[in-house]
Amino acid sequence: MTDRALDPLDPLDPDLARLLRTMPKAELHVHIEGTLEPELIFELAQRNGVALPYPSVESLRAAYAFTDLQSFLDLYYAGASVLLAESDFFDMAMAYYRRAAADGVVHAELFFDPQTHTDRGVPMAAVIGGLWRARAEAERTLGITSELILCFLRHLSEAAAFETLEAAMPFRDRFVGVGLDSSERGHPPEKFARVFARAGELGLHRVAHAGEEGPAEYVRTALDLLHVERIDHGVRAVDDQALVERLARERIPLTVCPLSNVKLCVYGSMAEHALPALLARGVCVTVNSDDPAYFGGYLYANYEALFAAHPAMGVREARRLAANSLEASFVGAGRKAVWLGRLEEVFAGG
Ligand code: ADE
Ligand code: ZN
Repeated sequence: MTDRALDPLDPLDPDLARLLRTMPKAELHVHIEGTLEPELIFELAQRNGVALPYPSVESLRAAYAFTDLQSFLDLYYAGASVLLAESDFFDMAMAYYRRAAADGVVHAELFFDPQTHTDRGVPMAAVIGGLWRARAEAERTLGITSELILCFLRHLSEAAAFETLEAAMPFRDRFVGVGLDSSERGHPPEKFARVFARAGELGLHRVAHAGEEGPAEYVRTALDLLHVERIDHGVRAVDDQALVERLARERIPLTVCPLSNVKLCVYGSMAEHALPALLARGVCVTVNSDDPAYFGGYLYANYEALFAAHPAMGVREARRLAANSLEASFVGAGRKAVWLGRLEEVFAGG
């Protein structure tokens, strides 16, 4: 099921592979709409009477060959068009939770893009209601906890972001933060400074995609003008040594997505990925899946592909990455301490 075949590499040592899968970890960068597998897209299209421009699951999957972020986003938004009812959002999220639990995820912070749905006439209540019901069901049946983060689409206006925040206010207790995603180039963080300030006043956590395709400068402005607590991707920070030092010193987490970065041609191969270098320089790097249905695998597949392409990474790095993910999550100190204790037990036993 996993796809680490981006580079032809030797298989991972089985003991390391087992640790990578079973170690308790958090996933902090996953777009729930990016977990919509082609099979579910077809099922929901049929259920909702939506016509798809692909004749089969196979032909849709075959179209997943991307040249950059925008070439992916075009398909991602088209795929999300099959989501109409509350139960569609519930089914999509439950499918993700099952896969995440199998990969050793104990806690997930899920991005959702309300504008992708409300602009098609889907009520905000259906979007948040379905995700919220799945969140409770996943905790009850799989023991996985989670939070929701509402993302603004940066190719749209700040006024539209304000409208979205307003429309979500009746559900204020169901999401813990706001994020910023979609087409990065030409849509710098400062475009959203006022709506992020408002989110801060509302007591929401703030995160933003920056330095995925855009320059290191966008990482700086996301920090200084949007006052984000974490940077999503952020890999372009490597172009700016002073910025890397700041990230390490201030312990600002980067939610990095290795398979995504290779699939969207941010790196020519996994062996060129900057994650090991950032980790070695003391940055609080975490591993995440971004849009796993589109990029060839869920959280474990990302760890597997990364470690297989960087043979110098081993048990020490695995433990550090898992600990970083738990530390960088938005849960309270008590729960973090429990998970970190469990993490130590897993490594002591391994
Ligand atoms: N939306 C979904 N995936 C994304 C990504 N990798 N970058 C920006 N926006 C996204
Ligand atoms: Zn993302």
